[in-house]
Amino acid sequence: MLESTPLPSPNLDSITNADQEKADVLVVGLAEDGKLSATLSRIDEATDGLFTRLVSHGQLRGKQGETNLLASPRAAGPEMILVVGLGSEVPTRALAFESASLAVRQLADRVREKVIISLPESFPDSMHDAIVAGAVFGCESQSIYQSDPSIEVPSVISFEGVSSDALRRGRIIGQSINQTRRLVNEPPAMLYPSTFAQAATRIAEEAGFSIEVWDEARLESEGCRAMLAVGAGSSRPPRLVMMRHDGGGDEAPIAIVGKGVTFDSGGLSLKPSESMADMKCDMAGAATVLGVMHAIAKLGVKQNVIGFCGLAENMVSGSSYKLGDVIETRSGKTIEILNTDAEGRVVLADTLDVAIQHEPRAMVDLATLTGACMVALGIEVAGLMTNDSRLCAAVKEAAEVEGEPVWELPMFELYDEKVKSKVADIKNIGEGRWGGAITAAKFLENFVGEVPWVHIDIAGPAFADSPKPHRDGGATGVMVRTLVRWIESQ
Ligand code: BES
Ligand code: MN
Ligand code: ZN
Repeated sequence: MLESTPLPSPNLDSITNADQEKADVLVVGLAEDGKLSATLSRIDEATDGLFTRLVSHGQLRGKQGETNLLASPRAAGPEMILVVGLGSEVPTRALAFESASLAVRQLADRVREKVIISLPESFPDSMHDAIVAGAVFGCESQSIYQSDPSIEVPSVISFEGVSSDALRRGRIIGQSINQTRRLVNEPPAMLYPSTFAQAATRIAEEAGFSIEVWDEARLESEGCRAMLAVGAGSSRPPRLVMMRHDGGGDEAPIAIVGKGVTFDSGGLSLKPSESMADMKCDMAGAATVLGVMHAIAKLGVKQNVIGFCGLAENMVSGSSYKLGDVIETRSGKTIEILNTDAEGRVVLADTLDVAIQHEPRAMVDLATLTGACMVALGIEVAGLMTNDSRLCAAVKEAAEVEGEPVWELPMFELYDEKVKSKVADIKNIGEGRWGGAITAAKFLENFVGEVPWVHIDIAGPAFADSPKPHRDGGATGVMVRTLVRWIESQ
């Protein structure tokens, strides 16, 4: 069987005196003010002011994202020095993450045994975990089925001056994001509802959280007719994955819910090829939930967290659900299907209903839900919609600290009538295409009861058409960092 390359797992450790150690490359930061870091100063002193000269001659400028790879002037210590520009702004966690990832990607063109990262000296201690996470993140690409690896992962990455806590936390977060990305990047012939559930089961065992999977028979007996309708056209039946991490005693849990459409052809409302090409990414919400469960279990977060992945494949066949169909959802509310390509909300109707039965004190769902959200906010920004402004503020705060851009869209009551149906309680599209991200959220709101809830539409940022210096194209793992932070803050 065709199998993707194993997830990258470089050995990570913490060292002191980076400029003295034998290594292939030493990575150092340089801000635009040209002030040399402690490590650069030490090398500078030993080499007759080499770096002072390079900076004053404008050869090294410290512009954000600019890199220079130089041969080390000394026989001892690392062989090469990679100078990473850090710009002129106050250092942030996003800059820490992206600089480390960028450095690893710059060095991935050939086999390197050991890379030392001295970026921590340029950032406050509280951001060191983001450097470690970024370095791990940089090791994963979307070329998971290429015979020659497009990224050579160093065997050892050493971080100068990071605590064992920061090292551990960064490793866990980086690996969790990569886990999410890997699942999203897997082709739909490999990853469909049952294989996603198998992967989740394996990850649960490894990370130490409990898991339960409902197959199609159980979905039937549980009345999850909406999920079954979306999956009806596929030879790969739906699954519902439920996960639980217990760390908060007898407190009510926090719920995270993900859209897991493992392939979205649009169904009978078939997508054109260009729109369908990347639709393996339509399970990114579910993969994010799994990545977050992986992270919080490994971190031992002191909260009770339950995770739900609604998994289905949206396909075309004689048994596909149809336009005009009316489905009685698990909650009892009926929905009229007027476009089979608005399937994510239909899957989530049942998934959210199962989630609220566990009486969570807060709930977040993640979904690659609407092209309209991309029209509204562009491809890099996630849309937030909520029934609880305090909860939404907490999610925004976490996103801001992690540097993952989000923007809230309004949930005015005036949108409610736009998802009312003439024959059923609600219909699965709004009126025309206007406000499509919000009408989708309004549809979902029907299934969250009184639970404080934030919906995150990640249709834009979950999957990238093209690479950036700090990350490959394909799955981004967006919102894993934000949600881990948000959960820890609750
Ligand atoms: N999975 C898509 C949304 C999407 C689009 C995700 C682009 C990622 C990138 C979703 O199921 C969909 O098809 N939505 C429709 C809804 C419409 C039919 C009301 C859309 O946005 O066009
Ligand atoms: Mn769709
Ligand atoms: Zn979809």
